[in-house]
Amino acid sequence: MGQQVSTPRQRGFEKSWRLPQNRASMPNMNMRLIGKASLVLLVLAASSSFGWGRDGHKISGAIAAHYLTPKARAAVQSLLEEQSLADVSTWADEIRSDSSYRWANTLHYANIKPGESAFDLDRDCPKKGCVVSAITKYANVLRDKDSTRKKSVEALKFLVHFVGDVHQPLHASRARDKGGNDIKVEFFQNKTNLHRVWDSGLIRQTKKSWSEYATELQQAITPEQLAVWKSTDPALWATESWKLALSHAYEIPKDGQVGRSYFDRCIPVVDERLSMAGVRMATLLNSIFKEGVVGGALDEAAKPKEPSAVQAFVGSRKSKVYHHPDCSVVKQIKPHNLAEYDHAPENKRLHKGCPW
Ligand code: ADE
Ligand code: ZN
Ligand code: ZN
Repeated sequence: MGQQVSTPRQRGFEKSWRLPQNRASMPNMNMRLIGKASLVLLVLAASSSFGWGRDGHKISGAIAAHYLTPKARAAVQSLLEEQSLADVSTWADEIRSDSSYRWANTLHYANIKPGESAFDLDRDCPKKGCVVSAITKYANVLRDKDSTRKKSVEALKFLVHFVGDVHQPLHASRARDKGGNDIKVEFFQNKTNLHRVWDSGLIRQTKKSWSEYATELQQAITPEQLAVWKSTDPALWATESWKLALSHAYEIPKDGQVGRSYFDRCIPVVDERLSMAGVRMATLLNSIFKEGVVGGALDEAAKPKEPSAVQAFVGSRKSKVYHHPDCSVVKQIKPHNLAEYDHAPENKRLHKGCPW
């Protein structure tokens, strides 16, 4: 009992504020570095209240990848190239520090009117959008044959993230305490807030890596569960979360001490929600991509290139190495990654084995 939850993020955060005593004599450069580092850490600390933490999203993304049909898998790979669903699942949190994406901040959650038993799109989703309308919107962008490749890639990254978020019970909960962000608690003696306990604290307390966690959950999913989790309506997913927020997340002792017994009661809910998010993400993507790639998945970069008139060198966009066109390695470069250069590209080096 009484195990300390001292997460790497929290440890780093506390440390960053321990400035040296002789601050005035610090060289300017160091001060600026500390300033920047503190800013980054502040952004990281704030971002943790905007979805499952990094691990939760990666776990659901990895589970989803397991259930993709071959067609959906190919479409996802064509859009994401070398990245996996787990890799891109946290992008929507990473761009929150970018002011050009500020409009997306409300899309991570929904608030339900107290006393109501279900999420209602007309009543509970504001004009600027919520997590439920965002899921519908980005699924439609992916279904739209006229979407550009850029729009489709962004839609897929948003969709993967928001399907995760809507399954976090406190992401479909009360406005008055901002989904538990305003409820101070001590989680295994560490001061935090209830929302963060659900985004990351409970998951971290298991001490499992995200990939271990994902494998364990995926292997425990039964055919019966797959049959029961069939719903593809994000409004229903939000209603489930709302009910779990009331029955589990908000059920805390008056003194705000949440520890072993809270963990034991809530971790099965966390596990089930992460599994459901993964399975439903796959079901949604399988339906979107049932005819194969759509919406710009094969345009621009992915289109096989016409041979160019002056083709001095070729290479993979992703690689720091370039080749003579007849080098044997060139055959291994996927067409959508193939770049042609009419002169030796800057910042890349010629493959040692070229041209053979
Ligand atoms: N801000 C207001 N409500 C919220 C919620 N349910 N989740 C995250 N952030 C919020
Ligand atoms: Zn989020
Ligand atoms: Zn959150």
